[in-house]
Amino acid sequence: MKYGYFDDDKAEYVITRPDTPTSWSNYLGSTVYGAVITNNAGGYGFYKSGAQGRFMRLRFNAVPMDQPGRYFYLRDQEDGDFWSASWQPVGKPLDQYKSECRHGTAYTTITSEYKGIKSETKYYVPLGQNFEYWRLKVTNTSDKVRKIRVFSYCEFSNQWNTTQDQVNLQYSLFIVKGEKVGDNLLRYSIQDNLYIQHPEYEVGGAYMSEWVALIGTPMTGFDTSREAFIGTYGSYEHPKAVVDGACTNSEAFGDNSCGTVQGDLELQPGETKEIMLMLGIDDALAVGQKIVNEFGTFKRADEEFEKLVNNWHAKLGSFKAITPDEDINHTVNVWGLYNCLITFAWSRAASLVYNGERDGLGYRDSVQDILGVSAAIPEEAEERLVRMISGQCQNGGAVPVISKDFNAGHEKAPKPEEFRSDDCEWFFNAVPCYVAESGNFDFYNKVVPYADGGEATVYGHLKRALEFNLERMGADGLPCGLLADWNDCLKLGYHGESLFVAFQLRLGLTTYADISERLGKKDEAAWALKERDTLDANIQKKCWDGKWFIWAVGEDGTVYGTQTIEEGQIYFNTQVWAVMSSAATAEQARICMESVKEKLATPYGLMLCAPPFVKTRSDIMSSVVFLPGIKENAGIFNHTQGWGVIAETMLGNGDRAYEYCKASIPAAYNDKAEIRQSEPYVVGQTTYSTFSKRPGNTRTSWLSGAGTWSYYAITQYMLGIKPQYDGLLIDPCIKHDWDGFTVERRWRKMNLHIEVKNPQHICKGIEYIEVDGKRIDAAVIPVSELKDGSKIVAYMGKDAKSSPVERV
Ligand code: NOJ
Repeated sequence: MKYGYFDDDKAEYVITRPDTPTSWSNYLGSTVYGAVITNNAGGYGFYKSGAQGRFMRLRFNAVPMDQPGRYFYLRDQEDGDFWSASWQPVGKPLDQYKSECRHGTAYTTITSEYKGIKSETKYYVPLGQNFEYWRLKVTNTSDKVRKIRVFSYCEFSNQWNTTQDQVNLQYSLFIVKGEKVGDNLLRYSIQDNLYIQHPEYEVGGAYMSEWVALIGTPMTGFDTSREAFIGTYGSYEHPKAVVDGACTNSEAFGDNSCGTVQGDLELQPGETKEIMLMLGIDDALAVGQKIVNEFGTFKRADEEFEKLVNNWHAKLGSFKAITPDEDINHTVNVWGLYNCLITFAWSRAASLVYNGERDGLGYRDSVQDILGVSAAIPEEAEERLVRMISGQCQNGGAVPVISKDFNAGHEKAPKPEEFRSDDCEWFFNAVPCYVAESGNFDFYNKVVPYADGGEATVYGHLKRALEFNLERMGADGLPCGLLADWNDCLKLGYHGESLFVAFQLRLGLTTYADISERLGKKDEAAWALKERDTLDANIQKKCWDGKWFIWAVGEDGTVYGTQTIEEGQIYFNTQVWAVMSSAATAEQARICMESVKEKLATPYGLMLCAPPFVKTRSDIMSSVVFLPGIKENAGIFNHTQGWGVIAETMLGNGDRAYEYCKASIPAAYNDKAEIRQSEPYVVGQTTYSTFSKRPGNTRTSWLSGAGTWSYYAITQYMLGIKPQYDGLLIDPCIKHDWDGFTVERRWRKMNLHIEVKNPQHICKGIEYIEVDGKRIDAAVIPVSELKDGSKIVAYMGKDAKSSPVERV
């Protein structure tokens, strides 16, 4: 079933049926003033923190999942009939009510048509501002004069801390005030006396406040009291004031507040009128009025919209592809990257599922997020990378979360048993990716503090990351699993051993050796390669189970992930990382990836393990708490799907890489959205697998490592455009029947036009490349051969030499 389509030219997803299987959401604003908005205008707003700065309320995990939100009610004053400008909350019958929602880059537009009245609502937060616009155009498409009364509605939190707001009612119901302070201006304050005593207080601390202004028509009424507007026995569907036909001009004094202004539009046949609501945080008179004075015209609102769109579209311009596959095009050209950028901004903070408690950057996820955004925003990627590296402690492990007030050099290191084993090994993916993207090789010499004091160059930090694991080896010479590795649920005991981390470490040692060579540090390179040899020997001695690599070794010596164990026999991560780290022999790589196909591949993606855990003790495998076939318990954990694609491309299996890619990318489900249920334009953390009762259903949209790895796998491995330190590698691995594809790639401030031709219909192998007409018999184009506007034609062919570079 189809609920919408992609409009890539406008970088929008268009929802044509509002009754989507779940609420399909989008983000507005920035990490300072942020908002979640759905296709039915549900959602919330927050200042700096989803949980601590929640100024606009969402009733979490309610039915529907997105209410309340940013609503306009339209009321026909002739007959009293009313509806909302988004289908919900009034929810008129869909045979009479037409609606279209366009989710764009940090804006959402919803149009509706009902009984001869068309409306268009556009929501956005101007760049760098702490307020939002709700613009409303109303058109009379009937042949008689229409009198339409408009009411806005949102629900402000009583306390910006969500727990206080929703649970501690004996306090939070007695601190809120709403008042009219100007012809078209409403003021909301929480703990107002504190502001009166201390007007210098920063908003969002002890003092919280919002304002609402109506532009373009006189405010003919208002309600700031939720109880007055909705009524004791009313609802969002039937708010009392709208049913009655007029606001009551209520000034909230305790209980709950709401943002309701009332305006009246008289429309001739064919006539359109536009009004807009501005809503922001901070004091209405001291701040709001000034913002209204400066930004409160339609002209200014148009300019701000244009700036916003240009800013986002410029980022999306870093990589554009035309391939024979439309789903891949939607993913690469708009939604994959937009998803990466939103995830980079918000980490795992705020969505319809994340309430915002995790205020800060979860370590491993945020390091990986760099991979998806380095091309689009290299400066911000560098800044983030430095911050993440400064979260490494002197012992080489990392603090689990970089909080907002994190103070590098002055933090307390976690207790020994609190370290994760994988955290800093992600450097070996993220740092070379950023350096190759930017060309800033000197980054390795940049001095960065450790979280708990002292400092080192980035290169020094990389060495400490390796040493952290090398100094914590288990009985079989594999890295200890510590509190957990990437898999939060794996409880091996501190000295249990993680093969996944062994593969990360192997990749790290290889990468470190390469960097050392380039820095002229031959001894260091030799050290790393010697350590790698020892590790390889240990891996081969203990970890090959005949058809696949084992999962891990428990502290008591139990080996997990073997053909003879009943549950969790085969684990996905150790197969793909055996290939990605080049630890597997060619034969092992072939066999283990065949096992993946046979045991873990489903039409909806690759399962994390199989069979699921039912009887295994939860102190060893805590994913047993999840229902079989979901999340870490044999679910399809989407974070890992890109690894499957990368591993297959490294083996040259373009057809299989394509198959895995298509099984997992959201766009491929656009025509069967009822299977996935979540937004077909963004990733979800987890998909129910065939071990479950609901295969294909996907949950926890937007904020997941799935975004980064799927985008990175497609752009750098499948399409194969991969920056190197001193050149650009073009080494695709595609479906054999593709004739080729084109890419517009921004790299080191150059715009490059790349065409890949595949006349012999092979999956992988570049014979030669022409750069502005000059032939290069290699897959890497030296940076000196490139200039802004260079035209590159890469020819795939059977006579290609094997791929020169396999850095993940
Ligand atoms: C979710 C976490 O955000 C991520 O860091 C972790 O790797 C996965 N869970 C797998 O357990």
